[in-house]
Amino acid sequence: MFVFVNGEGYKIRFKMKLLFAVFFAMLFIVVVVRRVDGNEKENDKGGGSSLENSVFDVRFKSVREQYEAFPYPPTTLHPTPSNARGKRREAIVLQSPSHLTEINHYIWKGRRNFCDKGGFRILVAGGGTGEKTIQLATQVRDMKGESVVDIVHLDLSTASIAIAKNRVESLGLERYVRFFHGSITEDARNLKEKIGVFDYIDCLGVLHHLENPSLGIENLKELLSDDGGMGLMFYGSLGRRGIYDMQRLLKLMDVPPTNKGIKFVREFVSHGLPPTNWLRNDPQRWQSFNRSMHASKDAQIVDMLMPFRDVAYRVDQVFDMVKAAGMKVLQLLQPAIYRPETYVRDPDVLSRIPTDPKGRASFAELLAGNMYHHFLYVAKRDGSAPGPFQLFDRDAGVADDVESAIPVPHIFDTTELSSALAKWPEGTGLPWSHRSLQIHLPIPRDAAEIVLLMDGRRTLAEIYEAFISSCGSTEEAEGEHGVCGRESMSFKMFLLGPFGQLFDSLNGINKLHMAQAPVQYLHDRYAPWAWKIPGFPKNPYHSPARCYV
Ligand SMILES: C[S@@+](CC[C@H](N)C(=O)[O-])C[C@H]1O[C@@H](n2cnc3c(N)ncnc32)[C@H](O)[C@@H]1O
Repeated sequence: MFVFVNGEGYKIRFKMKLLFAVFFAMLFIVVVVRRVDGNEKENDKGGGSSLENSVFDVRFKSVREQYEAFPYPPTTLHPTPSNARGKRREAIVLQSPSHLTEINHYIWKGRRNFCDKGGFRILVAGGGTGEKTIQLATQVRDMKGESVVDIVHLDLSTASIAIAKNRVESLGLERYVRFFHGSITEDARNLKEKIGVFDYIDCLGVLHHLENPSLGIENLKELLSDDGGMGLMFYGSLGRRGIYDMQRLLKLMDVPPTNKGIKFVREFVSHGLPPTNWLRNDPQRWQSFNRSMHASKDAQIVDMLMPFRDVAYRVDQVFDMVKAAGMKVLQLLQPAIYRPETYVRDPDVLSRIPTDPKGRASFAELLAGNMYHHFLYVAKRDGSAPGPFQLFDRDAGVADDVESAIPVPHIFDTTELSSALAKWPEGTGLPWSHRSLQIHLPIPRDAAEIVLLMDGRRTLAEIYEAFISSCGSTEEAEGEHGVCGRESMSFKMFLLGPFGQLFDSLNGINKLHMAQAPVQYLHDRYAPWAWKIPGFPKNPYHSPARCYV
């Protein structure tokens, strides 16, 4: 038996305690790492999915390994303008979803006050290098009033989190964001204990990397408040046919995701494809794809053409997955591209189309054949999220809050759009190009005038008053009896007529949302993906929601 009676003995006892502590700490780390790893391997086993269009395992051993080696999106993807002092400034990407006014419109009818005392919690699940986290945190910072928004950025890849953290700190946004390394497929109760419950969950481009995306949605549902909503994005199998053919070709050639392999891919894709190849057979899309192939960062090429796993879906499969997870689709974006009427005018054809949302969207997708992504908002099936803003209720009456609702043009300048509209020949409709398909959406004769009234501050009731009290076009002003015919137009007629048509078309391409509080437009924000159609304003406007007062 050892009896330590002097100082030496204490020292040895202390050293042994230290040794034990180190040993247990290491044991703990090994157990935790193995658990996370085990979870991922469980979720990352390739080949398990029966769904079409999936190509597995070029050379990576897991999804995590891919995103550790190639964090996504590569952060120099977008041009970085300089600020006044010539210092490089990070581009703030304003994209859909993750735009607070848009989220509010589709999930809470535009009524949500982001400054409620209870707080507003956002989870960016699979946030990658932080594009969406930064977009959300910037809007929160720009909100007037005392914001109580808390954003959690969760990702499987430590390399991606490190980049995101660095970007958030360099933009001074750290007080809004917390980072969490983990997997959305982790036991939902554990995850909930660690990160809590959220009002909005953003999960873009993540679920289609999982072996079981339904499980991913179910887990996220556990983290969602009852009146909360989620913005999701899945790849579309029909529009990405060329991408999956290319993934298979590269797999057949066993091209590894190394510098040499990526260089090979650039050359092969640019010069090795016959014109009938699915990536090439749409000249317009091919041109931009080919251009971006050269400009793209390695991570982008790997993500698109050499991922460990990505599975694409038709929209009916997306509806089924969402339903299987106990959730419902609130809205697909952009609404107009999922409407059969956007492509079909023949009443005979229209009369045969299913009337339920899944059937209608499915018809539109199969007909157009070009849907590359499916962006959608979802909520709990038995939850209390009110859903998208509507002008009319079920009984065809004017819905609640419509008079006080404020039309919010989304990332474009109404003055410019109004003057562009005024110059368009009547009857040509609103031109909109969606993945090589030029569509024309109906717009009312008075569109230019109404657009000019939409400043993100006026309510619909005020816009209506201004509209009926002016005489509009000269033709109308002269009228048969020399009087303006608008005074007799009721608010409901305004909604059914000119405003309704304009709303359907502008909201149809996701350029108009409705809010119950004014927004502010900040002209100094930089948005690389502003509205890009010929002859249209390309203004990078930013419209963060303001705290309701
Ligand atoms: C294509 S990136 C998308 C990044 C980001 N959502 C965006 O849209 O910019 C996919 C991201 O999902 C992450 N991811 C994949 N599986 C995940 C999982 N099971 N749990 C958490 N993150 C995951 C990857 O590490 C990667 O950062």
